[in-house]
Amino acid sequence: MRVLVTGAAGFIGAHVVEALAGDYGVMGVDDFSSGTLERVGDIAVQRLDVTDPDAVMRAFRAFRPDAVLHLAAQVGVERSAAEADRQLGVNVYGTMNVLQAAAACGTGRVVLASSAAVYGNPRRLPVDEDHPTDPLSVYGRTKLAAERLVRECARDGGFEYVILRLGNVYGPRQRRETGPVVASFFLDALEGRGLTIFGDGLQTRDFVYVRDVAQAFRLALHCPPGVVANVGGGSATSIRDLAEMVCRLVGTSVRPRFAPPRPGDIRASVLAGDVARRRLGWKAAVDLVTGLRETCEWYRGLAAQGVAGAASATERARTRISSP
Ligand SMILES: NC(=O)c1ccc[n+]([C@@H]2O[C@H](COP(=O)([O-])OP(=O)(O)OC[C@H]3O[C@@H](n4cnc5c(N)ncnc54)[C@H](O)[C@@H]3O)[C@@H](O)[C@H]2O)c1
Repeated sequence: MRVLVTGAAGFIGAHVVEALAGDYGVMGVDDFSSGTLERVGDIAVQRLDVTDPDAVMRAFRAFRPDAVLHLAAQVGVERSAAEADRQLGVNVYGTMNVLQAAAACGTGRVVLASSAAVYGNPRRLPVDEDHPTDPLSVYGRTKLAAERLVRECARDGGFEYVILRLGNVYGPRQRRETGPVVASFFLDALEGRGLTIFGDGLQTRDFVYVRDVAQAFRLALHCPPGVVANVGGGSATSIRDLAEMVCRLVGTSVRPRFAPPRPGDIRASVLAGDVARRRLGWKAAVDLVTGLRETCEWYRGLAAQGVAGAASATERARTRISSP
C-alpha cells in the first residue's frame, strides 16, 4: 500500500512516517515552513507546498498513492491577520488541492488531521463527536472548513475519508514555535526560565502522546470509511497541574508566572473516546506521567546537544532534502 503523508517533517507527521516505515510504501512531503528534516530519520521527504495545485497534482501523478494522510497545516491560535491568511491558505485551499489530486489520481482514502478546536468551548463533557461545532479561533474554523471539504469531495471524487479530531498532542520532537504548552514548559524549565501560564491555569486540556496518535493514523488506513473520531487521552488535566508535573520532572522549584488569557483559548477540554475505540480499534496506551517522563528525557537530550548539536543536525538534515 502506497501512502502519501503531507506535513511529514512536522512534529506528528514525522512520528506517523516512522510508524508506517517498513510496512508501507511511504512518500513524505512538506514545505519545511515549520518542519525540519532532523525529525524524520532516514526517510526522504520531498519539498512540496500544498498551496501549489500543479505541484500537488504532479506529486500525486508520480507516486499514485492508495491513501493520503493529510497533516500539512499552519497550526496554532493565530496572532496576526497575516497568520490568519496563511492558515486559511494552507489549511483550506491546500486541503482542497490535496483532495482534487486524490480524486484525479484514483486515491482510495484520505485521512484528515483535524482538531478538537472545531468544537469551541464545550457545552458538555466529555466532548463526543456529535457535540456542536463552534470554533473560537481562525485555526479551528479552517479545520472545520477542511473537514467539510473532505466530506464533500469524497462523495464527488469517489474516495473514502476518515477524520481524526486530535486533542492536545505532546511528546518528543515537538518544538515551541507554534505555542504548544508542554514543549514551552519543558524548554522554559530546563533553560532556567520561569514557566508562563496564560489565564488562571485552571483551564483543562486532553493531552495525548504523539506515538499513540501516530498509531491512530496507521489504524485509520484500514478502519471503516466515513469515521469521524476524537483522538485524545481521555482525561482532563489543568495547566497548573501540568506545570507542577513538568517542574517535578525537571527538578526546578521556580514558581510559574501568570499572564492574561489568550483570545481563542478554550476553557475546558476532554474528549470522549468511544468512537475511536469501536471504529478504529484505538485507545491511548501511554498515560500522561509516562509520556511526560519520556518527553522530559528528549528535551534534556536536546538541551545537552546545545547549539552545536542543533547546527550539525540541521546540516545533516539538509543533505536529505529531495526535490520533486
Ligand atoms: N499538535 C497538536 O496538538 C495538534 C492538535 C490537533 C490537530 N493537529 C493537527 O495535526 C497536524 C500536524 O500538526 P503538528 O503539531 O505536527 O504541527 P507541525 O507544524 O509540526 O506540522 C505541520 C507540518 O506541515 C508543514 N506545512 C505547513 N504548511 C505547509 C504547506 N503549505 N505545504 C506543505 N507542508 C506544509 C509544516 O512545515 C510542518 O512540518 C496539523 O494538521 C494540525 O492541525 C495538531
